[in-house]
Amino acid sequence: MSLNNDKVSATSHELLQAQAHVWNHIFQFINSMSLKCAVQLGIPDVIHNHGQPISLSNLISGLNVHPSKAYFIARLMRILVHSNFFAQDQQDLDDEAEEKAVVVYSLTPASRLLLKEAPLSTTQFLLMILDPVVTDPFHLMGTWCQMNNHGNHDHPASPFEMAHGRPFWGLAAQQPKFGSLFNEAMEADSQLIARAVVEECEGVFEGLNSLVDVGGGTGNMAKAIAKAFPNINCTVLDQPHVVANLQGTHNLDFVGGDMFEKIPPANAIFLKWILHDWSDEESVKILKKSREAILSKNEGGKVIILEINVSADNKKMDKKSIETQLMWDMLMMVNLNGKERSEAEWEKLFLTAGFSLYKITHTLGLRSLIEVYP
Ligand SMILES: C[S@@+](CC[C@H](N)C(=O)[O-])C[C@H]1O[C@@H](n2cnc3c(N)ncnc32)[C@H](O)[C@@H]1O
Repeated sequence: MSLNNDKVSATSHELLQAQAHVWNHIFQFINSMSLKCAVQLGIPDVIHNHGQPISLSNLISGLNVHPSKAYFIARLMRILVHSNFFAQDQQDLDDEAEEKAVVVYSLTPASRLLLKEAPLSTTQFLLMILDPVVTDPFHLMGTWCQMNNHGNHDHPASPFEMAHGRPFWGLAAQQPKFGSLFNEAMEADSQLIARAVVEECEGVFEGLNSLVDVGGGTGNMAKAIAKAFPNINCTVLDQPHVVANLQGTHNLDFVGGDMFEKIPPANAIFLKWILHDWSDEESVKILKKSREAILSKNEGGKVIILEINVSADNKKMDKKSIETQLMWDMLMMVNLNGKERSEAEWEKLFLTAGFSLYKITHTLGLRSLIEVYP
């Protein structure tokens, strides 16, 4: 049967499918919030500490929840099993009186990344992204789109500025609790990706004897590079309040400064998650400062960039990964007035900043390593 109105002619099956698609998108935030709840309650940690698959009753007694909430936890686990954060199995109960099987839960590779104390934990990143500081501006996207950008093309207000009355970096500096959460989130990511960078991209660092990690935060990426390549003298440049009181080593030091003003000279300038924070105009400024800082311009001096290269090719990247890249793009637009870039957009940026050559050498998960030469 067809359901007709003036413009639409769809079968009832098509209509219901369309409704299910809309519902799925409306409800996406429930996946995020369910995961946040599991992390706040420490569910992955309790399962891990149990040392073997855990029953619901043991899980409840390990959590700081009221026993009356057991039914809620069971339902929370059901949706998180569905989204592959936990695995569910049946285990025979060791009970002679009754032959009974109980449901038991265990961790999956994704929830192992959500253990609070794990070296590669993504917990701080989750808590930072799902903090109202970051999520509130998304409610303002529509209104922001209707506003004039105050005629200032270089620094248009973002929904973040609309929500908080100041840019992201200003708030991170003025609200130490959020600032620390942000830095911890960056540290954990750097720890994770640094492993792939030093293991898989060794050749990128060959022949270098100095490197500046611009906007390198508290230095986890530079620490990993300095450790893996002891011949490279590494410097972390970041805002003075971020690097204050951080201790270097024999081949690692910290410098407080402003990358828009001056970048210390080195053979290689490393930019991880920097350019995606900024508009094209601001990114060109950072790239020009990076170009000025490169020593040995004709002998392999370069900029090394670790960022998303937005894929338009379903054959090269699966649909879910492309969706995650596009979500990153919206996150950058809403919170920082930054953007994720496609290869064509990267190329334009490099050429505008006066570079002559680039190559995308490695794909590391959703991100790519790009080498850019003067
Ligand atoms: C998204 S974080 C990336 C941190 C680190 N590169 C990483 O990936 O873990 C951006 C970094 O840029 C720093 N930053 C922002 N404005 C800066 C400026 N004008 N000069 C130097 N660093 C800046 C921030 O403090 C922050 O540590």
